[in-house]
Amino acid sequence: MTSRKRVFELLRTINVAACQCPAHGFRGNIQVTNSTPEKDYAFEIKCSTVRYGLGVTKEVGLDLVNLAAKNVCVMTDPNVVSLKPTKAVLDSLTKYGINYKVFDEVRVEPTDSSFKAAILFAKMGNFDSFVAVGGGSVMDTCKAANLYSCDPEADFLDYVNQPIGKGKQVTVPLKPLIAIPTTSGTGSETTGMSIFDYEKIKAKTGIANAALRPLLALIDPLHTLTVPRNVAIYSGFDIFCHALESFTAIPYTERGPAPANPALRPVYQGSNPISDVWSRFCLQALAKYFTRSVNNADDLEARSSMHLAATMAGVGIGNAGVHLCHGLAYPIAGNVKKFVPDDYGKDPIIPHGLSVVVTAPAVFRFTAQSDPDKHLEAANLLGTDTTGRKQNDAGRILSDTILSYMDKMGIGDGLSSLGYSIQDIPELVKGALPQHRLLKLTPLQQSEEDLYKLLEDSITIY
Ligand SMILES: NC(=O)c1ccc[n+]([C@@H]2O[C@H](COP(=O)([O-])OP(=O)(O)OC[C@H]3O[C@@H](n4cnc5c(N)ncnc54)[C@H](O)[C@@H]3O)[C@@H](O)[C@H]2O)c1
Ligand SMILES: [Fe+2]
Repeated sequence: MTSRKRVFELLRTINVAACQCPAHGFRGNIQVTNSTPEKDYAFEIKCSTVRYGLGVTKEVGLDLVNLAAKNVCVMTDPNVVSLKPTKAVLDSLTKYGINYKVFDEVRVEPTDSSFKAAILFAKMGNFDSFVAVGGGSVMDTCKAANLYSCDPEADFLDYVNQPIGKGKQVTVPLKPLIAIPTTSGTGSETTGMSIFDYEKIKAKTGIANAALRPLLALIDPLHTLTVPRNVAIYSGFDIFCHALESFTAIPYTERGPAPANPALRPVYQGSNPISDVWSRFCLQALAKYFTRSVNNADDLEARSSMHLAATMAGVGIGNAGVHLCHGLAYPIAGNVKKFVPDDYGKDPIIPHGLSVVVTAPAVFRFTAQSDPDKHLEAANLLGTDTTGRKQNDAGRILSDTILSYMDKMGIGDGLSSLGYSIQDIPELVKGALPQHRLLKLTPLQQSEEDLYKLLEDSITIY
């Protein structure tokens, strides 16, 4: 039997190993002052530790040894569990003598019910660390399982974003989480976000807190070689919109008020000079590699570059944020009717990247007036020659650039191709309105009528 002394030693080791830095959350008392400036004047960049390399997954067992982990929860989905990425993880854990249990029931595009099943598994297992191997669905589910198993008395809505939940600050220490993405899209391996479909309101929402950010992200391009065509397309468009939205989000100096304590500065801070670097890199990478990575699954250079770009865009969104395409996407995905895409199983589902990009042509036509030069620059980075083009045309030029990518990738003709008609727009607007966090990041104020018009303009797009 393990001695009490050993148990205390282990707990102390895990507490030290679970990062205490501001990048992974703030614990303890948060003191606030009463008066704060109306607009923020500072931004900060937070990110998981990222390790990139072909075959780097084989190091995960040693990472867990370094963390003194003894009882690991490995999370994945019913498909990825039988693919090479999971085998690589389990082989490494076995090689280094790490005890683990596998939860392979993550739902693709998770819901509050599927989150709760994973949370229950985590609570029952009394794990000292987590490994998430899969796409955004797996990583987001694992973040929530870690959080709620570390605060077992919490009500599910306590940590969910306001106004849907209570948006409670995380003050309990979380366990170390290692994220190993197997799609090239969400960037969830670097963010403090965990997104789910809240069935009651038929729209996505989530938990946004730096404490959720994985301790370590292992970016292994080998995992991308089995990604099917449609998953490569839709997750590629997720990167595409992450880069465009964080690049054009409201500048951090325009977002307000400044927080009453630095620990309360929101995850989504607005565009800033550092996140712009990540966004620019991604837009250039998309121009060079997106089409190649879709057309040839064996093109290791293209697939590796898209995998890196996804992580880079994750740093952009994880600090600057996203805005209207994502705000509108949450009810578009949540109200799905009969759309069943290839490569995603048999259930009706609108994959995240598709739900996001479908309104992008209308959204960027709308937001261009906030900063025409930046919209023109984005179009240029995506491969359009913008020499001598007028500021007044910036929205149309970026929108046409986006449409050319969508057309090339075989995306259907707007919301109508996903089963929506004009009659559905009021319901979609209703679902977008509670997405305060995203709508506030849009560089232009928008009314309910504006949202209606953007959706109306997205019914057919070509
Ligand atoms: N937390 C964040 O920062 C963040 C950001 C954007 C999106 N998201 C969320 O992430 C989810 C979407 O994640 P996703 O696009 O990564 O896809 P996913 O995790 O939903 O997976 C999509 C499909 O691809 C399969 N798959 C995954 N890896 C594979 C591989 N290597 N080979 C073969 N098949 C593979 C899965 O089994 C699944 O069928 C959505 O719920 C979205 O809201 C989160
Ligand atoms: Fe996204």
